[in-house]
Amino acid sequence: MRLIIDTDTAGDDVFSLMIALTRAGVSVEAITIAHGNVGFAQHAENALATLEVCGRAGEVPVYLGAERPLSRTPLAATYVFGADGMSDAGFPRAAQRPAPGEAADQIVRRIMGAPGEITLLTQAPLTNLALAVMMEPRIAGACRHLWIMGGTDNGVGNVTPAAEYNFYVDPEAAKIVLGAGFDVTLVTWTETLRDGLFTLEQLAELEALDTPRSRFFTTVNRTSLAFARKTQGLGGSLHPDALTCALALDEALILDSDRCAVDVETKGELTRGYLSVSHPILPDAELADPELPRRQANARVIKSANRAGFFAAMKAALA
Ligand code: RIB
Ligand code: CA
Repeated sequence: MRLIIDTDTAGDDVFSLMIALTRAGVSVEAITIAHGNVGFAQHAENALATLEVCGRAGEVPVYLGAERPLSRTPLAATYVFGADGMSDAGFPRAAQRPAPGEAADQIVRRIMGAPGEITLLTQAPLTNLALAVMMEPRIAGACRHLWIMGGTDNGVGNVTPAAEYNFYVDPEAAKIVLGAGFDVTLVTWTETLRDGLFTLEQLAELEALDTPRSRFFTTVNRTSLAFARKTQGLGGSLHPDALTCALALDEALILDSDRCAVDVETKGELTRGYLSVSHPILPDAELADPELPRRQANARVIKSANRAGFFAAMKAALA
């Protein structure tokens, strides 16, 4: 698999990169950096540190992208990941530096240069990809598959009751991407709450590996684990990006999915960034309100994943 990962590298973004960078048969051809979780420049530093700990320094270019959403004010999540996005671990600066070139431009060039070959995984606000679509709309047809971590699936969000972080931060970008015609799979926050938790026992098992990568994982995960305990009352930590990556790399881990009509709310007073996902319990739009637009399924939405298989994927990346 040839992969580009778009990331606001902090916390779980790191673990997703680790799964991809250590998996045999996966060629991570570029990492593109978006605004999001913590300071923009820090995302690049975190991706570069991750390449180093995975023994891949100098092999994968890291391109800087959008430093802010299309039209909104940037919004960080340092309260989850620490000021540096790495639980304030103070890792040394990696030797590799960001590559010359810009994220959206690289996404376009690389996808159009190899039609049908490149899989794209986004685990950040969708600004870079929306800019790429605006630059070259044909990337939607030329991309092999698009995996998005984002949105909710008729469930509660993690910024507001209605919205998940990646979609809340840049809803206009998410709407552009979902309307662009990609062959797309969504791993939502709702699915993360179902299948993306590593329990305290599982985290202890990862720590017990006692390898450089497992020590890195345990250190980086510290703040989000504490946040999950204190704020969300969970007995473990949540891994939306790593889950998305594990499923993208091994679709046998998908236990259930639905083809759905999805779209993003950009105007709502209480529902900024809400992902609308069609549901079989709803009456036909024609019956409910003849003025509602007819919507075709435009995405696959993950409904259930193999938790043990996901954990095994993470463990293999840290061994
Ligand atoms: O809402 C989950 C998303 O926001 C993930 O991409 C995670 O990395 C966080 O930033
Ligand atoms: Ca992320």
